[in-house]
Amino acid sequence: MKAITFVTQKGGSGKSTLCISMAVAAQEAGHSVCILEMDRQATVSDWAEHREAQSPEVAQVEASQLDDVMERLRASDFDFVFIDTPGVDSPGSLAAIRAADLCVIPCRPTPADLRAFRPTLAAIYRLEKRFAFVLNQTPPRSYRVRDAADGLAVLGILPDVNIVMRNDHQDALGMGQGVTEYNPTGQAAAEIRRLWAWVARRWQGVSLVQAA
Ligand SMILES: Nc1ncnc2c1ncn2[C@@H]1O[C@H](COP(=O)(O)OP(=O)(O)O)[C@@H](O)[C@H]1O
Ligand SMILES: [Mg+2]
Repeated sequence: MKAITFVTQKGGSGKSTLCISMAVAAQEAGHSVCILEMDRQATVSDWAEHREAQSPEVAQVEASQLDDVMERLRASDFDFVFIDTPGVDSPGSLAAIRAADLCVIPCRPTPADLRAFRPTLAAIYRLEKRFAFVLNQTPPRSYRVRDAADGLAVLGILPDVNIVMRNDHQDALGMGQGVTEYNPTGQAAAEIRRLWAWVARRWQGVSLVQAA
C-alpha cells in the first residue's frame, strides 16, 4: 500500500480537487483506493455525501489518529491511500506528510502560490519524503505557466502534464464525482488520467526526487 498526501499551506490551490479526482482515476485504473480527510473544512466528506457510488471509501481522521489508521490500512487490501490536508501548517498536515510515500504539492502559477509552499517543502525535506509539484488551475497556455514550470523544475520534480483551469473540475465535485466520471471524454479528464499514469509510473522503479 502506498500513501499519497496532497499538501501545501495555500488554500484554494487544489489539494482536495486533485485528491478526489486522482483517487477516482486510480480506482478506474483498477486499483483499490480510499481517501483520508484531515481537513475540518470537509470538502471530501461533503463530496462523498453527494456521491452515488459506494467507493472510494472516505474517512475523516484527526492528526492523533493517523498513525493507528495507517497501521490498520497497511494490513488491508488497499493499493493506494489518498490523504487530503488542511490549508494551514498544522499537526494534521505534518502527520500526513510523515505518513506519505509521495507528497503532491499543488501549485497555481501565481507568485503567492509559488511562495506559499516553501514551509511545506521545508517539512518534506525534514522528513525526507519524496514529492512532486503539480501545476494546477493554469491557463491553457501562457508565459506564466512556462516560467512557473521552469522555477518548480529547479526545486523538484514536475510531471509532464499541467492541470488546466476547467469548469469540469468544479462541476464534478458538486455532483459527487471525479472529473473522469463527470466528463470522461473531456480534456480535464484526460489531464487527470495522464497525471495519475505519471504518478503510477513512479512506483515502477523510476525514482522520484527524494528530499536530501
Ligand atoms: N483545475 C481546476 N480547474 C478549475 N477549478 C479548480 C481546479 N482546481 C481546483 N479548482 C477549484 O478551486 C477551488 C479550490 O480548490 P480546492 O481543491 O478546494 O483547494 P484546496 O483544497 O487546496 O483548498 C475549488 O472551488 C475548486 O473547485
Ligand atoms: Mg481542501
